[in-house]
Amino acid sequence: MPVSLARRLDEVAPSATLAMTARAAELRASGRKVYTFGVGEPDFETPEFIREAAQKALATSSHYTAATGTIELKEAICRATERDRGWCPSPDSVTVSVGAKHALFNLAMVLCDPGDEVVIPAPYWVSYPAQWQLFGGKPRVVETKAEDGWRMTPSALEAALGPKTKAVILCSPSNPTGAAYSADELRALAKVLANTDAVLIVDEIYGELVYDGFEHVSFAKIAPELEDRLVIVDGVSKTYAMTGWRIGWAIAPKRIVKALSKVQGQSTTNPTAVAQAAAIAALEGPRDEVRRMRDIFSKRRDRMLAGLRDVPGIECDTPRGAFYAFPSVAGLYGIHHGGSALDSANDVALWQLDVCGIAAVPGEPFGAPGHVRFTYATSEEVIDEALAQLKEAVLKADRHPSMAP
Ligand SMILES: Cc1ncc(COP(=O)(O)O)c(C=O)c1O
Repeated sequence: MPVSLARRLDEVAPSATLAMTARAAELRASGRKVYTFGVGEPDFETPEFIREAAQKALATSSHYTAATGTIELKEAICRATERDRGWCPSPDSVTVSVGAKHALFNLAMVLCDPGDEVVIPAPYWVSYPAQWQLFGGKPRVVETKAEDGWRMTPSALEAALGPKTKAVILCSPSNPTGAAYSADELRALAKVLANTDAVLIVDEIYGELVYDGFEHVSFAKIAPELEDRLVIVDGVSKTYAMTGWRIGWAIAPKRIVKALSKVQGQSTTNPTAVAQAAAIAALEGPRDEVRRMRDIFSKRRDRMLAGLRDVPGIECDTPRGAFYAFPSVAGLYGIHHGGSALDSANDVALWQLDVCGIAAVPGEPFGAPGHVRFTYATSEEVIDEALAQLKEAVLKADRHPSMAP
């Protein structure tokens, strides 16, 4: 008899981004050139001063720390939040976890009872619905459109709220679209939420990565009136190229902090001590590396947009932040591949992987059929080369006659 697994797993799909990465690795192992636009992490090494601080900290990092992080790191997070986001939390409102993903997972665990609804604008980061589903939560997905800059309107939010709404999850700037809300847009959403008792979880992990002078405004700064049910999630992974170090955090009202501490104290205990020391160095150190990486991302975004828009059948809006482009690929449907015609973003993603070696992630798992996510955390040369190949492949492709461009 096979072991019977917990039924809660039936609700959840495995991570789509990881599946595409695995497939690309297979192709690479077989000797093919693969252009990697799939993974959601900076391609830079962690800045040297951070690695040096970690090396020093090794001498004193052999033991457990406080379960939700050292007081030194919590204080550094508060100072950085004041410097970068313009509001000042207190250290006892911070819990540090093994990455922001872990903080979000713990939030689902402490907030969600079976049947509770969580409002999530689509396209969404794949883990938001999956984490709540693991605890019996019901995602209430709010569609957004590229024409609206992929931002949820106040009226759409209002329509999605109901007696079972436990939480709303916002991500700005967003993975997968790069969409970001202005201060006025956030204020309008806050106004709708003022009449509810929903917990608002705002994922600001890409807050430092915004372009063309766009100003990221933290939700906590514009809606202090919601502070008794507002949770800000953040971390060092994206801003400081530290995905492997696994440090993220939640800044939350005391009651939620207490619950998060309880869960973490019975599960992982503290995030790795030396990684916490590295995170302090990142937050307190010089800012030039952060600026340098942002400037490089900004140039790559422009290259990515120009290259994508040059491919007949692809349309792409301009993302305000993060490091993703999220074009519509519906114009490529009808291309013949493997005995049938492309008919979904998943088909397009597999076709471009087979034909051009381009690994990017189809939109279906992000709640956005018809789109593909391209990460531009890779060099301008690679972006240019890959997209030139994609254009050539599209121009040469054999199409179903009714679907010719
Ligand atoms: C929107 C969003 N939130 C959170 C995370 C998780 O970050 P971390 O590496 O800190 O777990 C990611 C990572 O891809 C993300 O895209």
